[in-house]
Amino acid sequence: MIALASDHAGLPLKKEIMTLLGSMGLEYKDYGTYTSASCDYAVYAQRAAKAVASGECERGILCCGTGIGISMAANKVKGIRCACVSDCYSAKLTRMHNDANMLAMGSRVVGVDLGKMIAEIFLTTAYEGGRHQHRVDQIMAIEAGEDLTNL
Ligand code: RB5
Repeated sequence: MIALASDHAGLPLKKEIMTLLGSMGLEYKDYGTYTSASCDYAVYAQRAAKAVASGECERGILCCGTGIGISMAANKVKGIRCACVSDCYSAKLTRMHNDANMLAMGSRVVGVDLGKMIAEIFLTTAYEGGRHQHRVDQIMAIEAGEDLTNL
């Protein structure tokens, strides 16, 4: 199950991502927003991010105007590693190296075709593990309040 969320600005791209997920045979849950009325991205980011953090959804895709605000909000939820991406290389590498569990994109930044390509790469690329695990663990250690500054 893929968690989706957007604000009003990200809604058009989120709708395209829904079509993509359908064609990939992937189920999704849309945590809003559902209309083009102006709204606050943090509200929807938190809903989708909580679904990913709890394990209810395996991954999440978020859209706002830039992808930035909604990714910042998602990353405040414990357990979330959300990457704001606007190119295919970063989409692949954030899965391979960072084990990102959420992707954020800006519908005012990427076009529909690129956005769909980025989402497909994000959803089909495996985490490499190995030497990267230690680094991902460090990210999560910071979240848990550990002090890495003396390393
Ligand atoms: C909404 O106008 C816009 O600020 C929002 O979608 C997003 O780009 C914020 O980061």
